[in-house]
Amino acid sequence: MSEANGETMLSSSFLFLAALQLTTTLAVSQFDWETLDAGTTLKWTPCYQGFQCTLLQVPLDYTAPTGSNASIAIVRLPSAAPKSEYRGPLLFNPGGPGSSGVDAIVQNGAAFATIFGSEFDIVGFDPRGISYSTPHISFFNTDVERELTIPSNPNIVYPSINASSDALARELAHWQLLGKLAVARDEGGYLQHMTTDNIARDMLRITEAFGFGKLQYWGVSYGSVLGATFASLFPDKVGRLIIDGVLDMDGYYHANSTSQMTETDTALQTFFDSCVAAGPARCAFHAPNASAIATNLAALTTRIRAQPVAAVTPAAHGIVDFDALRNALLAALFAPYDSFPPLAQALADLAAGNASAMYTLNAPPPFACGAPRSSANPLESYMTIACGDAAPVADDLASLRAFYEAATSVSSFADLLASTRVVCSGWKIHREGRFQGPIGARNTSFPLLIVGNTVDPVTPLAGAVKAVQAFPGSVLLTLDAIGHTSLTAPSRCIYGYFREYFVNGTLPALGTVCPADAVLFADGRKGNATASGTPPKR
Ligand SMILES: *[C@@H]1O[C@H](CO)[C@@H](O)[C@H](O)[C@H]1NC(C)=O
Ligand SMILES: *[C@@H]1O[C@H](CO)[C@@H](O)[C@H](O)[C@H]1NC(C)=O
Ligand SMILES: *[C@@H]1O[C@H](CO)[C@@H](O)[C@H](O)[C@H]1NC(C)=O
Ligand SMILES: *[C@@H]1O[C@H](CO)[C@@H](O)[C@H](O)[C@H]1NC(C)=O
Ligand SMILES: *[C@@H]1O[C@H](CO)[C@@H](O)[C@H](O)[C@H]1NC(C)=O
Ligand SMILES: *[C@@H]1O[C@H](CO)[C@@H](O)[C@H](O)[C@H]1NC(C)=O
Ligand SMILES: *[C@@H]1O[C@H](CO)[C@@H](O)[C@H](O)[C@H]1NC(C)=O
Ligand SMILES: *[C@@H]1O[C@H](CO)[C@@H](O)[C@H](O)[C@H]1NC(C)=O
Repeated sequence: MSEANGETMLSSSFLFLAALQLTTTLAVSQFDWETLDAGTTLKWTPCYQGFQCTLLQVPLDYTAPTGSNASIAIVRLPSAAPKSEYRGPLLFNPGGPGSSGVDAIVQNGAAFATIFGSEFDIVGFDPRGISYSTPHISFFNTDVERELTIPSNPNIVYPSINASSDALARELAHWQLLGKLAVARDEGGYLQHMTTDNIARDMLRITEAFGFGKLQYWGVSYGSVLGATFASLFPDKVGRLIIDGVLDMDGYYHANSTSQMTETDTALQTFFDSCVAAGPARCAFHAPNASAIATNLAALTTRIRAQPVAAVTPAAHGIVDFDALRNALLAALFAPYDSFPPLAQALADLAAGNASAMYTLNAPPPFACGAPRSSANPLESYMTIACGDAAPVADDLASLRAFYEAATSVSSFADLLASTRVVCSGWKIHREGRFQGPIGARNTSFPLLIVGNTVDPVTPLAGAVKAVQAFPGSVLLTLDAIGHTSLTAPSRCIYGYFREYFVNGTLPALGTVCPADAVLFADGRKGNATASGTPPKR
C-alpha cells in the first residue's frame, strides 16, 4: 500500500501495541471537530478531503443510560458503489490502546477501500477518551505540564527497567506519579468508563446508527482485544470480524506481557541473518556471519551504555543512550521490510561515532509551546484503557522485580516489554463489573477470521492460535512474514482473502499461509514494503 510518491504509508508504530505509525509530516488535524454537535443520529459533515465526519452521543456509563454522555468522533470514506451494492460500515481499529482511528482512516482509508471494495463505508472512530472523542483522557492541565512530566521522547517508549540498578524503582515511582495524578484529576469519575468493553458497546451503537445490526470490523494489534471482546459480549452481532496481530487475551487482561515476548528474539535474529544475506551494499551494519553482527551489536550497546552520544541535527537534538538504542532495535522489529535498512545505517553511523541517524530514526518534531500537537495523549490513553481493563497489579518493587526476572528467561527484550506491567502497577481506577475475560463464544453469528504472522515481535502466532480455539468455527490465516500485524508487508494473497471474507463471506481453507510481497533488505535505502493495494484477481 503506497502513496503516489512511493513512500510507504503503513508502517508499524513505536507506541506500545499500536500498529500504525501516523506520519507526523502529514497534517491530519485540519478539521475542527468542535464545530460539530454530538447527536444520537449520524449527521455527516464534509471533512478533510473526500471524507465525512460526525460525533455520536453514547452513554458514558451503559448502566446509567440517562446520565452523562460521551461523544465518539467518527470519520468515513463513503462507499462509491451504487446503492444496491452498498454493504454498510467497515470499522477499523489501529491498536494502542490509544491510537486515533480517525487519523488512521484519514491517512489510509483510500488504500483500505481498494482492498475491501467500494461497497463499504471505510470507517474510523476515536475510541472514547481518545483524540477527538470526549471526554478526553488527560492527566494534565496544560500541554506544557505534560511535556515537563513526560517529555515527548519517542526514542524511548519502553524505558529499560534494567538500564541501571535503580531503573525499575524509578519507573515504578514514575507510573505511581501518573496514576496518582489520574486519580486527582478524574473529574466526575469519567476514567473508570474508559475500558474496552465500553468501546465494544460503542462499536455496536455506531453500527446501529448506520442502520445495520451486525458489526463489520478489522482490528490490528490491541484492535484484536477490542474485536475479541466485542465477539465475546455480542456473539450474535458479528457480521464480519477480522482480528490481526492477535494478543494473548489472558495476558492482556492480567497486564502480563510475558507471552508477548516469545518471538522477539527470533525477529532480531532475522535482522542478523538477512543483513548477512543482503551483503554490505544493502546492509550497512554487515559482517560476514550472523554471530559477528550480533557480537558487533552487543559491543556497540555496551559502549553506548557506558558512554551515551550527543546528536545535533537540523530537525532535533538529544542524546542516544542505552534506552534509545534498545528502543530503536525493538521498533525496527515491528516493520522490518521498511525499517531494517535505515536501522542498519543508523547502527553503522553510531558505531562510527555519528548518532544523528539513530536519534532521528523515530523522532517527531520537537515540542514547541503553542504548536498544534497530536491530541491523542497516547501514554495517558494507554495507561487508562489497558490498565483499567486489567486485574489490579501489585505495586511493590519486589513482585515487579520477580516478574521482570522471570520474563528474562523468555526474551532478551524483557527489560523493555515487561515495563507494561510496571505501568499498570501505578493504576488504581478499576470499575466494578467491567469485562475482564476470558474471551470466547461458542457460536458467533459469523465465523471470525484470525490473522497472524509467522514471526511477530510482540503478538506471536500463539495468540492467534489461542483465539481460534476460543471461537469455534473461526479460521486462522497466516502471513509468512516478519513484523507486527499484516500491515508489516503488502500481500496480495492476504488482501484477496480479506475481500472474499467481507464481500462473499468465504473463509480461507484451514492451514492457509500467504506469502508477503516483500523481501528484507530488498533495497539498500529503504524496504520495498509497498504495493498498489489492488486486490488480486483470484
Ligand atoms: C445524553 O444523551 C441522551 C440522548 O441524546 C440525552 O437524552 C441526554 O439528555 C444526554 N445526557 C446529558 C447529561 O446531556
Ligand atoms: C541487566 O543489566 C546488567 C548490567 O547492569 C547485565 O549484566 C545483565 O545481563 C542485564 N540483564 C538482562 C537480563 O539483560
Ligand atoms: C505471566 O504469564 C506467564 C505465562 O506467559 C506465566 O508463566 C507467569 O506466571 C505470569 N505471571 C504472573 C505474575 O501472572
Ligand atoms: C564470523 O565472522 C567473524 C568475523 O569475520 C569470524 O571471526 C568468525 O570466525 C566467523 N564465525 C563463523 C562461525 O563463521
Ligand atoms: C552524521 O550523519 C548525518 C546523516 O545522518 C550527516 O548528515 C552528517 O553530516 C554526519 N555528521 C558528521 C559529523 O559526519
Ligand atoms: C449458531 O448461530 C447461528 C446464527 O446465530 C444459528 O443459525 C445456529 O443455529 C447456531 N448454532 C448452534 C449450534 O447454536
Ligand atoms: C464473490 O462471489 C462472486 C459470485 O460467486 C464472484 O463473482 C466474485 O468474484 C467473488 N468475489 C470475490 C472478491 O471473491
Ligand atoms: C519486493 O521485492 C521482491 C524481490 O525483489 C519482489 O519479488 C517483490 O515483488 C517486491 N515487492 C514489491 C511490492 O515491489
